[in-house]
Amino acid sequence: MKLGWLEATVLTAATVANAKDLAYSPPYYPSPWATGEGEWAEAYRRAVDFVSNLTLAEKVNLTTGAGWEQEHCVGETGGIPRLGMWGMCMQDSPLGIRDSDYNSGFPAGVNVAATWDKRLAYQRGVAMGEEHRDKGVDVQLGPVAGPLGKYPDSGRVWEGFSPDPVLTGVMMAETIKGIQDAGVIACAKHFIGNEQEHFRQAGEAQGYGYNITESVSSNIDDKTMHELYLWPFVDSVRAGVGSVMCSYNQINNSYGCSNSYTLNKLLKGELGFQGFVMSDWGAHHSGVGDALAGMDMSMPGDVVLGSPYSFWGTNLTVSVLNSTIPEWRLDDMAVRIMAAYYKVGRDRVRTPPNFSSWTRDEYGFEHYIVSENYVKLNQRVNVQRDHANVIRKIGSDSTVLLKNNGGLPLTHQERLVAVLGEDAGSNAYGANGCSDRGCDNGTLAMGWGSGTANFPYLITPEQAIQNEVLNYGNGQTNVFAVTDNGALDQMASVASTASVALVFVNADSGEGYINVDGNMGDRKNMTLWKNGEEVIKTATANCNNTIVIMHTPGSVLVGDWYDNENITAIVWAGLPGQESGRSLVDVLYGRINPGGKTPFTWGKERKDYGAAILTVANNGNGAPQDDFTEGNLIDYRRFDKDDVEPIFEFGFGLSYTKFEFSDLKVKELSADKYSATTGKTKHAPVLGKAGKASDNLFPSGINRVRQYLYPWLNSTNLKDSAADPHYGMDAKDYIPDGATDGTPQELLPASGPSGGNAGLFEDLIQVTATITNTGSVAGDEVPQLYVSLGGEDDPVRVLRAFDRVTIGAGQEIQWTTTLTRRDLSNWDVASQNWVISSAQKKVYVGNSSRKLPLSADLPSVQ
Ligand SMILES: *[C@@H]1O[C@H](CO)[C@@H](O)[C@H](O)[C@H]1NC(C)=O
Ligand SMILES: *[C@@H]1O[C@H](CO)[C@@H](O)[C@H](O)[C@H]1NC(C)=O
Ligand SMILES: *[C@@H]1O[C@H](CO)[C@@H](O)[C@H](O)[C@H]1NC(C)=O
Ligand SMILES: *[C@@H]1O[C@H](CO)[C@@H](O)[C@H](O)[C@H]1NC(C)=O
Ligand SMILES: *[C@@H]1O[C@H](CO)[C@@H](O)[C@H](O)[C@H]1NC(C)=O
Ligand SMILES: *[C@@H]1O[C@H](CO)[C@@H](O)[C@H](O)[C@H]1NC(C)=O
Ligand SMILES: *[C@@H]1O[C@H](CO)[C@@H](O)[C@H](O)[C@H]1NC(C)=O
Ligand SMILES: *[C@@H]1O[C@H](CO)[C@@H](O)[C@H](O)[C@H]1NC(C)=O
Ligand SMILES: *[C@@H]1O[C@H](CO)[C@@H](O)[C@H](O)[C@H]1NC(C)=O
Ligand SMILES: *[C@@H]1O[C@H](CO)[C@@H](O)[C@H](O)[C@H]1NC(C)=O
Ligand SMILES: *[C@@H]1O[C@H](CO)[C@@H](O)[C@H](O)[C@H]1NC(C)=O
Repeated sequence: MKLGWLEATVLTAATVANAKDLAYSPPYYPSPWATGEGEWAEAYRRAVDFVSNLTLAEKVNLTTGAGWEQEHCVGETGGIPRLGMWGMCMQDSPLGIRDSDYNSGFPAGVNVAATWDKRLAYQRGVAMGEEHRDKGVDVQLGPVAGPLGKYPDSGRVWEGFSPDPVLTGVMMAETIKGIQDAGVIACAKHFIGNEQEHFRQAGEAQGYGYNITESVSSNIDDKTMHELYLWPFVDSVRAGVGSVMCSYNQINNSYGCSNSYTLNKLLKGELGFQGFVMSDWGAHHSGVGDALAGMDMSMPGDVVLGSPYSFWGTNLTVSVLNSTIPEWRLDDMAVRIMAAYYKVGRDRVRTPPNFSSWTRDEYGFEHYIVSENYVKLNQRVNVQRDHANVIRKIGSDSTVLLKNNGGLPLTHQERLVAVLGEDAGSNAYGANGCSDRGCDNGTLAMGWGSGTANFPYLITPEQAIQNEVLNYGNGQTNVFAVTDNGALDQMASVASTASVALVFVNADSGEGYINVDGNMGDRKNMTLWKNGEEVIKTATANCNNTIVIMHTPGSVLVGDWYDNENITAIVWAGLPGQESGRSLVDVLYGRINPGGKTPFTWGKERKDYGAAILTVANNGNGAPQDDFTEGNLIDYRRFDKDDVEPIFEFGFGLSYTKFEFSDLKVKELSADKYSATTGKTKHAPVLGKAGKASDNLFPSGINRVRQYLYPWLNSTNLKDSAADPHYGMDAKDYIPDGATDGTPQELLPASGPSGGNAGLFEDLIQVTATITNTGSVAGDEVPQLYVSLGGEDDPVRVLRAFDRVTIGAGQEIQWTTTLTRRDLSNWDVASQNWVISSAQKKVYVGNSSRKLPLSADLPSVQ
């Protein structure tokens, strides 16, 4: 049988999988409708009010993008001109505004994680939100918790935060609150299991020689899903995130945007998500199927980018008119979108997009892809404000001092400062010279792909160090830079006379649609780029005071050189954004005492991390199968379980002062007994009337933009209007059981309106410790609390709480934190709920995953 679009995604994901004995995703229908509980009450009420007044075509307009490059933003829905509402603008990226101008280039998510500072995460969120808001963006496409970091060399890990779900969850929540407090809807992405770039899209894989018909399938068991990959999305929903983006990959052989188990059951059923699910660009694979599976918005609307057709738009109008998709499901999509809109206050702060993603010219075509409507496109509004300050601060506070044998801080007394390595200097093509930062020229301050922004400027380390030396060196000091990594002789010569050699090296990675030096998004190795090891060797052979500074998206293999005695300090600066050089010199010269901690593990060898990225198709022409057999043992949990020594462990980072931990106290708090959620939902609300086909025809006299995706019909003949080759297929062949049922549904035991059962977020235990700064300068410390859950299959320890605190020289503080029921529970597959096991649990406190001087048994709690 030749498979059509409908069957391919709705039906046969299951049958094909079963036939081949592949992982299978059980159906879960109907799609839960929004209820407006908790913090969403007011926004939900207003959304229902608004949507009740809309026609069928108007509702559909809210759900479907106008088409690739049809409007200003990377994705834009239709509007509702009758009510004065223009289309909603979706814009990349997680670290600033992509494809724009006069905007800031923020530090990447991985740097935010390295600060371990909740306030800075929030402040960055607010600043990014303000910039998007003032450019007319409705939804900022970030932050990222997928990839989480199953693979250390996965291309997009830097867009997110850390392979630890708690650290990522906290940073997701703070970023979301910041963005949304500024009046812009955040988008938690990519949901879910989007752990590698290879094979994420079949079409893309053809480009690198693999003739696969379907995207990679991340096969994840239920326990791992809950204890690891879903965890940060729980925090996102709790923070009130307005939208979630479903991903390119499949989960158990069902696409991210077609998967009723992940969208209907987990996200909307269990987590009680009240906002809307939008597709990743090109991740929408079926019209009826994805609507029933829980997707709410098609981005950028077209079947494939640039095609004049849509799975939704006209097709969605038709599907409601022919009763294939119940009207309540469309109403629910529209209500979820409008509820997010009201929740963050879009109605109060909205301004039309004043830039175009497709050209930097001042004037150009509004409908860029079809060259229609020549207008002033780029008003070049400067939205940067004083955001350079928070960018510089995050850059400094995320800097991780990995080794220090007296090399740092510098004193301004160094007679000759050598700056070595291409990574110190400018990109000869310009800071924005490579599209979507798709090259590794000059200093590296963000990775590549859609998760980028144009820089307003980029302060290089070379510039900042030279300024520093000239400003503070009293005319007694010299500074020389050699930034061609092939110029080893010249480097040797400068290094041999230098008081200190500052060596800059990097590694880069990004998104799968750009190939940089043979790296298809994912890194092809974990060593340094551009001859970095040779540059280091040249410096160490000639200078006994060599300091290595790395700009990388994650861990690199440093085993060959990190313990060289001539290396007096090693610094990881991550991907710090536009203020790179200035952030760094603040730390190098001791104005800021480093307090960053590595948010991932630095292993000796790649194999220490476990499974390699799947780079060879392992299922013929079918979907490559990526079995997540390691469960939740990724990054430090893997190293701990295998008892493998890393070079620098998760959570580690030095300071110019020293801290001591003492006096651990554990106290049980009174809490209610945990009870499973029971009962049923209300009936799905139906808002207004669908009307007849004749109410939804193209209005006469409308000036139709070519290829534009409208919600209307060409004629009252639904089949002709849909132009769907499989139109009229018997519904029982592709509508899953129960998918159109709007009657009250059983609630899931672990469910609740804001991230799950409220009992999970109750505090059960309070932990207190004393932290003393025993050195002679003030500094920041990051107390970290780890828990051993005690079960045989459990990780040795998992991070559960942290803070970043500032302590004066000789001072001490008391650090207090709490553990929730969720923190102490395991996911129980049988009862489909969280359960605190009877195993003895233990708490550890210290300043890295392996420096945990304090520990105590935990009382048994329920
Ligand atoms: C994938 O399959 C595993 C193993 O049967 C199951 O535990 C898990 O819930 C499934 N997940 C999804 C999203 O289908
Ligand atoms: C919806 O229509 C009703 C009745 O016409 C009107 O009172 C109300 O203001 C409208 N609401 C919105 C959000 O347009
Ligand atoms: C849908 O949106 C487009 C673009 O904003 C607009 O031209 C059209 O009138 C809208 N249709 C309806 C039914 O409001
Ligand atoms: C790719 O695979 C498809 C499906 O198996 C097949 O029809 C097609 O001929 C193949 N194309 C190439 C270039 O091998
Ligand atoms: C409706 O969807 C079908 C099936 O995917 C597609 O071939 C067709 O072009 C779509 N129709 C419109 C009007 O976009
Ligand atoms: C810049 O990067 C491109 C692409 O990676 C590379 O081909 C070129 O040699 C680089 N140019 C300079 C001046 O570094
Ligand atoms: C690793 O990849 C980088 C970037 O493509 C390359 O410069 C480097 O030479 C590679 N390392 C090894 C050992 O092949
Ligand atoms: C480093 O080299 C300098 C000059 O060559 C020398 O004066 C100094 O003693 C050396 N330091 C160490 C720790 O070997
Ligand atoms: C350390 O540097 C000195 C020059 O100061 C050099 O003679 C020596 O060989 C270097 N040692 C190593 C291990 O590279
Ligand atoms: C609807 O009519 C327009 C204008 O004649 C035409 O361009 C378009 O292809 C038609 N759509 C379908 C699905 O037939
Ligand atoms: C209803 O419309 C949709 C969208 O065009 C189409 O895919 C489906 O086959 C239609 N169903 C029936 C029963 O006509």
